[in-house]
Amino acid sequence: MNDFADLYQQARDAAANAYAPYSGFHVGAALVAEDGRVFTGCNVENAAYGSGICAEGNAISSAAAGGVRKIDSVIVACLDAGECYPCGNCRQLMREFSVDTVVVQDGNGALRVHDFGEILPHSFGPESLDNLPTNR
Ligand code: THU
Repeated sequence: MNDFADLYQQARDAAANAYAPYSGFHVGAALVAEDGRVFTGCNVENAAYGSGICAEGNAISSAAAGGVRKIDSVIVACLDAGECYPCGNCRQLMREFSVDTVVVQDGNGALRVHDFGEILPHSFGPESLDNLPTNR
């Protein structure tokens, strides 16, 4: 059983590998899949700024490549800021894989544990595509 402190350290370790020459903002993420496997990711920026990828998205992509389809928790670490919450796009990426819990640093050495509904309320997800109108 991974506690969040250990996972947060894994996220920090990933953040140390961030490729962030443009923003100088080094972010790491660790996630726990339903089967207990842990995947990590860091942000990877690009000279074409819009082609950069967030830490959370990279961790989620790695998990998906490993066959994961349900993620229990995502832990985010940033080496260059206090409080650091996932961007809107990453919240939506988490939604696809039914993340239950998001953990962030509060900037004062503590972690904040959030239910996913606090992170992305009233969200759009896979089941939102059910019950399509039959007249289309
Ligand atoms: N970034 C992340 O990787 N995750 C977050 O939660 C916030 C922002 C990255 C994107 C970009 O490389 C840099 O941080 C500055 O926005």
